[in-house]
Amino acid sequence: MGPTLGSIDANRRAPAEQAQATRRLAQRHVRHFLADFRELELRWPGAYPRIITGGEGAHLFDDAGRRLLDAGNHLGAGMIGHGRRDVAERMGAQAATLEFAALDSGASHPKVVELAARLADLVPLEDPVFSFTSSGSESNELAFKIARAYHSRRGEPERTVILSRDGSYHGSSYSGMAATGAPAFRADFGPMPVGFSQLTQPSPGRCGLCDREGGCTLGCADALEDAIERHGPEHVAAVIAEPIAILQAVKIPHPDYWPRIQDLCRRHGILLIADEVVTGFGRTGRMFACEHWGLRPDIVTLAKGLTSGYAPMGATAVARHVEDAFADGPLLHLNTYAGHPVACEAALATLDVLESEALVERAAALEPVLRRELERVNEVTGRVLKISVIGLLSSVELDVSDRDDPTRVLVGLRHELYERGLIARCAVGDGVLTVVFYPTLVISEQDIVFGATALAEAVAAAVEGGGA
Ligand SMILES: Cc1ncc(COP(=O)(O)O)c(C=O)c1O
Repeated sequence: MGPTLGSIDANRRAPAEQAQATRRLAQRHVRHFLADFRELELRWPGAYPRIITGGEGAHLFDDAGRRLLDAGNHLGAGMIGHGRRDVAERMGAQAATLEFAALDSGASHPKVVELAARLADLVPLEDPVFSFTSSGSESNELAFKIARAYHSRRGEPERTVILSRDGSYHGSSYSGMAATGAPAFRADFGPMPVGFSQLTQPSPGRCGLCDREGGCTLGCADALEDAIERHGPEHVAAVIAEPIAILQAVKIPHPDYWPRIQDLCRRHGILLIADEVVTGFGRTGRMFACEHWGLRPDIVTLAKGLTSGYAPMGATAVARHVEDAFADGPLLHLNTYAGHPVACEAALATLDVLESEALVERAAALEPVLRRELERVNEVTGRVLKISVIGLLSSVELDVSDRDDPTRVLVGLRHELYERGLIARCAVGDGVLTVVFYPTLVISEQDIVFGATALAEAVAAAVEGGGA
């Protein structure tokens, strides 16, 4: 048995004074996400931010030498695991050969061609064309531009509306925010771009649309049909959706949902954009989550697992029939770092590891193990409302409606998880506390057991004990 989660490796420990100096500078000069350092300092003086100094396989290490199971710090990017020397060496060699060349004014380079040709055989699109970006937000932004331009070039410039769903996340740019179905993300930043509209998300048994006793009757798909009617199909450019959304909780749709949505879009000439930023590259036990339903969208957006976090890179892939709309002249869209050679090499290395170590198949094989272990969380907490698992993507939703301080419980839960050597993503809303647990695809069975145990104990400490 290897070292347990949360165990300390003294060789990795930074001197205490240096660690505190780094924390002070980080708090003062670096914007971090979802962290209120004033509150954190009051509750756990000198503990935040946690300083991550290294990684190896499914684990991270912090400046105290603590070993942490990464089931969420990577934000869904981590597929092939941390600290792969072979990947780093390939990226270094690429930087030494050609660190950068722009895809501009007739120039290209071999790595971007190799990557696009490789991806063309994988994405669920007919004879695709790839625009490379630097993030998922940019990939979605470009997908919206392409959707509107596609209709405009085909003589329907009034088709501009982009439909998305409540409980979906599509990025932090203005259009990403406008498409994201969570008002909190938009609250400070209005006015929003026009032409974006949200619908109900499928989440069988929990979406509130269908009668819970009677089960899912696909009210969410009816809602899309209504929205198309309301706007008028001649005004709707595209529907964007993650095949499986994970904002707040993992929402696995009813088996009939995607075929109906795809059919609706096709019937009305509306482009279907599949946001595979978080679900792509094996996360759900298939290379792309679209494959679970044989879904053939018109546009697919990618990022995160494309390079497994070894370089920032995304892509917007369009099917040939979409690209054909631009036969009369190329799309006017520029991006300095599109197809950055070092990022391309990171993506090629990621694909090599996914294939040679059969990690997509591994994610599918570990699904029942993850489900079995997460089901044990309820034995400890008695608060589980729903467990959702597909591949190595999972969430546990917990009832905290009796707590009048949900945000305090949430922050306490993150702390308690970390203290037990686990990083997972936590959120709270409407009396439901959710833990999204999505480890790298190299996780061992034993670490799934450790992770679920740590999760259950942390929930009990944070919810019942009230945290610090
Ligand atoms: C489904 C989905 N789409 C888009 C994005 C935005 O990606 P990025 O943060 O790389 O801009 C994310 C990020 O979490 C995501 O989960």
